[in-house]
Amino acid sequence: MTFSVRRVRTDEWPRVRALRLEALQDADAAIAFLDNHASSAARPDDFWRERAENAASGDAAAQFIAEEGDDWIATVTVLRRAAGEADHHGLPLPHARADVVGVYMRPSHRGRGLIDALLTSAAEWSQEHGDHALTLDVHADNARARAAYARCGFVLTGRRFTSAIGDEVEMRRVLRHAGSDSGDRVHS
Ligand SMILES: CC(C)(COP(=O)(O)OP(=O)(O)OC[C@H]1O[C@@H](n2cnc3c(N)ncnc32)[C@H](O)[C@@H]1OP(=O)(O)O)[C@@H](O)C(=O)NCCC(=O)NCCS
Repeated sequence: MTFSVRRVRTDEWPRVRALRLEALQDADAAIAFLDNHASSAARPDDFWRERAENAASGDAAAQFIAEEGDDWIATVTVLRRAAGEADHHGLPLPHARADVVGVYMRPSHRGRGLIDALLTSAAEWSQEHGDHALTLDVHADNARARAAYARCGFVLTGRRFTSAIGDEVEMRRVLRHAGSDSGDRVHS
C-alpha cells in the first residue's frame, strides 16, 4: 500500500468536515475527542471553512492527512499557542505549546503503524517553526493511542488531569532541530 502525507488545502473544507464527522462516530470517540458528533454535525459551513483555512496556512495550526489514492485515511493536527493563550481545554497556558490533537486513523487501516508517518510530518512542521517539543493529552484508558504515541517517541510527563472526557495524561515528544523541508511524504 502506498500513501502520502500532506497538509490540507483551504478548499478542502468539506473533506475536513467529513473526516472529522467520521472520527466522531468511532467506537472510541468518547475517550478520544473533546467534541461530539451531534454538535459538530450542527456547525455551519463557515466553521469548517475557517477551520480548514487555519489548518492549511499560517504558523498557528496545521492539519495533516494521509491519502491513499483519493481516500483520506488518517489525520493529525498541530495547534501552536503562545503563553497566556487558552489551550483546547480553555485553560490559560503558562508557556508556549505545540499540541497534537485530532488524531484519527480509519479502522480499516489500523494496526500497521501508519500513524507514525503523520506524527513525523507533524513533528517536522513544528520543528521548522522553532518548537522544542510536541505535547498531547490522551485519555488514561485509551491504551491503543498511548501505545502508538509511545512508539513514536512520546513519553509521559507525569501530569494527569481531568478534562471534559475524563482522566487524561500528558505526553511529550522532544524535537530535534536539524534541517527543514515541506513536510510532504510518500510512503509504501
Ligand atoms: C490512535 C490511533 C490513531 C492509532 O492508530 P493505530 O493504527 O490503531 O495504531 P497502531 O496499531 O499502529 O499502534 C497501536 C499500538 O497499540 C497497541 N495496542 C493495540 N490495542 C491495544 C490495547 N487494547 N491495549 C494496549 N495496547 C494496544 C498495539 O500493539 C500497538 O503498539 P506496538 O506498536 O507497540 O505493538 C487509532 O487507533 C485511532 O484512530 N483510534 C481512534 C481515535 C483515537 O483514539 N485517537 C487518539 C486520541 S488521543
